[in-house]
Amino acid sequence: MSRPFYVTTPIYYVNARPHLGHAYTTTVADVITRFHRMRTPDTYFLTGTDEHGDKVVEAAKKENLSPRAFVDKISALFRNLWPELQISNDHFIRTTDEAHIAVVKAVLEKIWKSGDIYFSEYEGLYCFGCERFYTERELVEGKCPDHETEPELIKEANYFFKMSRYQDWLIDHIHQNPEFIRPERYRNEVLAFLRDPLDDLCISRPKSRLKWGITLPFDDNYVTYVWFDALLNYVSALGYPDGEKFKRFWPVAQHVVAKDILKPHGIYWPTMLKAAGIAPYQHLNVHGYWNVDKSKMSKSLGNVIDPLELIKVYGLDAFRFFLMREMTFGLDSSFNEEALVNRINSDLANDLGNLMSRVLSMAHKYLKGTVPQVDPDVEKQFNLGLGDQAKQCVTEYENFMEGFQFHNALRVVWEFISQMNKYVDVTSPWVLAKEKTSRPQLEAVLYNLLEGLRIISGLIYPVMPATAEKMQKNLAMAPADPCCSLDQLRAWGSLAAGTSLPKSVVLFPRVTLESEKGAAAPNSEPASPTKPLKPEISIEEFAKVDLRVATVVRAEPVPKAKKLLKLELDLGSPRTVVAGIAGSYDPQELVGKQVVVVANLKPAKLMGVVSNGMVVAAVTDSGPVLAALDKPVPPGTMLR
Ligand code: MSP
Repeated sequence: MSRPFYVTTPIYYVNARPHLGHAYTTTVADVITRFHRMRTPDTYFLTGTDEHGDKVVEAAKKENLSPRAFVDKISALFRNLWPELQISNDHFIRTTDEAHIAVVKAVLEKIWKSGDIYFSEYEGLYCFGCERFYTERELVEGKCPDHETEPELIKEANYFFKMSRYQDWLIDHIHQNPEFIRPERYRNEVLAFLRDPLDDLCISRPKSRLKWGITLPFDDNYVTYVWFDALLNYVSALGYPDGEKFKRFWPVAQHVVAKDILKPHGIYWPTMLKAAGIAPYQHLNVHGYWNVDKSKMSKSLGNVIDPLELIKVYGLDAFRFFLMREMTFGLDSSFNEEALVNRINSDLANDLGNLMSRVLSMAHKYLKGTVPQVDPDVEKQFNLGLGDQAKQCVTEYENFMEGFQFHNALRVVWEFISQMNKYVDVTSPWVLAKEKTSRPQLEAVLYNLLEGLRIISGLIYPVMPATAEKMQKNLAMAPADPCCSLDQLRAWGSLAAGTSLPKSVVLFPRVTLESEKGAAAPNSEPASPTKPLKPEISIEEFAKVDLRVATVVRAEPVPKAKKLLKLELDLGSPRTVVAGIAGSYDPQELVGKQVVVVANLKPAKLMGVVSNGMVVAAVTDSGPVLAALDKPVPPGTMLR
């Protein structure tokens, strides 16, 4: 049985609305939790909001709200966003929760009693944006590196935590536990910081300046510094000190943060834990920043990306896939919508989507849609190493996932997808299907392909849970959450035989960049027979047009569009095409008809539906008339 698993995100400040950066960190935590759930049900995933401090008071003032009303409002935005992103957190903590406040007070009391907190006059440079004092050394040209504003000189009497006492211990701990802070660049950054003497940490704010915080248990005139309060959420949420969850999950705690908050997590937090007599966390996983077209995301630049907007257009699983595939964990990434569209069309629609529909349509065509029972000897002979490739893929995937290398984990899955596509080409089931005597071989090949799809569905589950579920439904597997265990993925040949496969669905339709939408509707230009001919073209130019025969599987009106019908076509693989023929054809009469499609036309979105090609029709004064064939031919047949 695997060890329990516990992961946290930063608790987000409630002074800004959630954006792409928050969505990324929280999705990372969700992906890693779902991955561990494929090993053990004993997992705990925590997120929440950080609600005290100057920034919140200022933001509340701007909205003419009390701090309490303001934090309730913004915290709810975060809490309500997560289900939309299929974030499966076990708990949502708020630093205004009574239970959290009690833990902060108890830990302060404990450290105060042990003598690691003292009272002293302090004069320093304070950045209100960061809510902390800066040393001259940390400033860049006299300004806060994050806010690019000059800090103010503040003199006040405050309480200090003797952080410096734990400097040597922390250095040793990091050396003895190389995976304590990862990836390595951030471990090195913390160690570099620890080369200079560590200052003590100011952990209070006088109430004369700030009231919105947790009162110090040993001095009513002060509230707790927001970081000393916030970091403790990671243990208060588990019911520290006596809670069952604390005992079970704290020893395996892993945090996920971005590089902006490396110092509080890499230095303040472990020394606070040490002083409070709590064991250090196991891993701090630090990722880079999402920039937008190479600039920092910021309100003033107006380039803040709202994850909900992207999901509305491109779908949730595609968005989650893009985040995990595109960013190398630890490095910065630049977001741009074109890259998202390319990933969807090439990795999802083309590679994965086509493989799935190709295999399922062959299973329906050649095996009446039943998962075949396979002769083990024939299977061995026709496996061609596919089973070993699957096993190797699962092993590499596991290692990469463990180490937060999501882009590599997905890369190896897509390598396997490409091996599967090659396997189809090499074994050519359509050739085997021609000979009755090749039936056992055909069954073995198709079984292996279905089995490979089962494994792919399991491997993509942490990143794309809804697609994994869809794939498994199409493979006639019993529904389960998580959809399968890692052990089941290692066991080649476990797909149950004899079950009936449902008719396949399109996993990912091709998409168009939002800014390129609005292309002309098909058949939009009625032409009279007397219209002059277009300029002459060469045979090579004509050959660029890929005309294919497709069978209409389903037809339905496009809402609010009088002329448009959405056609689901079988073109050898599934296709969606929008055609401007609604006035001339009843959707029902189209089903089963064969039509001619311009198959390589750039996709266009028409009234919210993506059209991947155009149906060919004669445009007469009384409306369009579809081009038809003399007799039926296999879907996908090319016209010349
Ligand atoms: N409240 C503190 C954290 C306290 S944890 C005990 C805080 N909050 S925050 O709202 O500013 O969130 C910072 C975190 O949001 C980053 O560490 C990262 O997880 C996420 N991101 C915010 N902007 C980001 C990007 N542009 N790119 C990637 N993630 C970023 O700091």
